[in-house]
Amino acid sequence: MLEQVSKLKERVIEQRSLPKTHVISVSSGKGGVGKTSFAVNFAIALSRLGKRILIIDADFGLANIDVMLGVSVVHDLSSVIGGERDIRDVISEGHHGVKFISGGSGVYELISLDEARVARLVSQMCRLEDIADIILLDTGAGLSDVVLRVVRSSDEAIVITTPEPTAIMDAYALIKTVNRFEDSPKLRLIVNLVTSNKEGNEMLNGFVRVVKKNMQLDLNKTGFILRDPSVALAVKSQVPLLVGYPDSPAAQNIQSIASKYLDVPIAGGRGQGLSHFLNRLFGRQTENAG
Ligand SMILES: Nc1ncnc2c1ncn2[C@@H]1O[C@H](COP(=O)(O)OP(=O)(O)O)[C@@H](O)[C@H]1O
Ligand SMILES: [Mg+2]
Repeated sequence: MLEQVSKLKERVIEQRSLPKTHVISVSSGKGGVGKTSFAVNFAIALSRLGKRILIIDADFGLANIDVMLGVSVVHDLSSVIGGERDIRDVISEGHHGVKFISGGSGVYELISLDEARVARLVSQMCRLEDIADIILLDTGAGLSDVVLRVVRSSDEAIVITTPEPTAIMDAYALIKTVNRFEDSPKLRLIVNLVTSNKEGNEMLNGFVRVVKKNMQLDLNKTGFILRDPSVALAVKSQVPLLVGYPDSPAAQNIQSIASKYLDVPIAGGRGQGLSHFLNRLFGRQTENAG
């Protein structure tokens, strides 16, 4: 299987002279910290800055990105895994050309697929390289096998927390677990729901300092987002925050996170493209199984 995936990978690499698709996971230790709100609006901000963005919801049943992005989804990744549909048939397009694929129940299947299904999914997913500069994966919270597999396979992992002690503890546990893997991704921290810029900066600095001291890991201070009633209003009116409330404090925070993100060379050390992500995602599975 590894051989098969790596042959596919080689073929894909040969064909591409364009910059590679960058895969970013968005996760958290604790649920309900704002992953989906962030992913949707970060996608729109990056899209406005000229990047082609695809979001994949990998939080079965809880992602509700479709609602936030204003798209209606009929088919999800499970029909691609099952071979009934082409990957292009499950892509919807929302605000500002942000593309979206629902993982659906396919997400649970990811780590237990047989070889034929892995091969099919890999070859289908490799085609996304033509349509996206950045793929954002909105994962579930916590340390489940699927979440960890997706996070460790991505080029960069954004971990979101809030200032709440339980959220911080859970984010810490997630980072510690991901950091134990041999080839862990570049890790980024975002603190959501802060009540002031001062609290935002203090949270980022404090967390990064502790992680550096205890894990000898340099966590990127990616930014903070203010607690802002516009976020809930946007969800209620089914219009993304950046579209409906572009001048709100939280929207401004997300816009500056996006511009700052693109200021730094995007690869951040890894960024070998989608085929490498898929190779890591499924390669280890067969290693473990064997
Ligand atoms: N910056 C913010 N200010 C106010 N409310 C927020 C903010 N970010 C998220 N929320 C609210 O928190 C809840 C959970 O957000 P969501 O993005 O669904 O979290 P997750 O994807 O981590 O479960 C939603 O009701 C959302 O409106
Ligand atoms: Mg969510």
